[in-house]
Amino acid sequence: MTTDASAKPAPRASSLPVKPRIYSGIQPTGRPHLGNDLGAIRNYVAMQDKYEAIYCIVDYHALTHVHDPELLRRQTLEMAAALIALGLDPKRCTVFVQSDRPEVTELCWLFNTVTPVGWLQRTPTYKEKRANQPDDVNHGLLTYPVLQAADIALPKASLVPVGKDQAAHLELSREIVRAFNARYGETFPEPQAVYTEAPVVLGTDGVKKMSKSIGNTIEVLAEPDVIRRQIMSMVTDTERIKRSDPGRPQVCNVCQMHRHFGPDYEAIWDGERTATTGCVDTKKLLAERIIAHYAPAREKYTELMADLPKLRAILDEGAERIRPIAEATMTEVRERMGLR
Ligand code: AMP
Ligand code: TRP
Repeated sequence: MTTDASAKPAPRASSLPVKPRIYSGIQPTGRPHLGNDLGAIRNYVAMQDKYEAIYCIVDYHALTHVHDPELLRRQTLEMAAALIALGLDPKRCTVFVQSDRPEVTELCWLFNTVTPVGWLQRTPTYKEKRANQPDDVNHGLLTYPVLQAADIALPKASLVPVGKDQAAHLELSREIVRAFNARYGETFPEPQAVYTEAPVVLGTDGVKKMSKSIGNTIEVLAEPDVIRRQIMSMVTDTERIKRSDPGRPQVCNVCQMHRHFGPDYEAIWDGERTATTGCVDTKKLLAERIIAHYAPAREKYTELMADLPKLRAILDEGAERIRPIAEATMTEVRERMGLR
């Protein structure tokens, strides 16, 4: 687990939580992929005991690109079930849906007033999103990082487990909080990103970041045959043409993934280097290991999705637990800003 070295330590303020509070948000993209799990969710699970942990399914953020109400509702529940199946325990951490605590939209508006528009226009993800959805450059895309800063600041979280692709957003969150603190007095800690051992997981193409929108994912909770098909389609070492050519595990995405699914990955790498094993063998082994690793989670996921009222109740309870925290922050912020 590593933290972002560029971040300053959180300021001490009397109104900060005693046990360090962590927060992370994840978009309701349905069932998570391997990049989500290795890059972020593993840390959510590891951090739930040491910290007061809050995890949120960010459906307001999703509205910047999902415009099908039924799909959004279904994928929100799917992501909630998946997080619990992968190891979040609602007794030890809080899991809630962003729109169940609408105070965050008020904080987002207040943060808009301390955020220069140039910061948002320069954000790399904004430029990417504009390019990806040229017919739908809605204002939410520009304000997206302000809402993210508000998410983190509402519970005054100081640590944020995320993948490396969120580094620029976290930097912006710190700047927004700093701008608020400078204008209205120390109110919020400056949040730091926390990364796993796999902060950037490449997709099956072996080149781009694994992402649902690119379609290069390995869906960890899918049926075994789907996982097999996705892994067998992976691009390996492109310079290993013949079976007898030695492989280069350091540049092979399949070999890199083996690191996370067994202590013997060095032996697997040796097999590749000496051409004792071929890429197909290495992929088949990876597929079987990933299927076995996620089998209990897959079963738990199916169970949770079979009882949606129970799942909804867990999320309702999560939102209720956040209520006093959100209300206390908003009362303080309104007072500091002169709203009452
Ligand atoms: P998203 O689906 O974009 O909401 O991502 C949820 C979490 O997974 C965020 O913390 C991301 O940084 C992380 N994540 C998504 N894709 C990857 C990837 N390919 N490698 C590492 N982390 C990722
Ligand atoms: N922007 C994040 C992503 O795309 C999701 C997110 C929203 C988030 N709010 C957050 C992540 C707060 C961490 C903290 O993955």
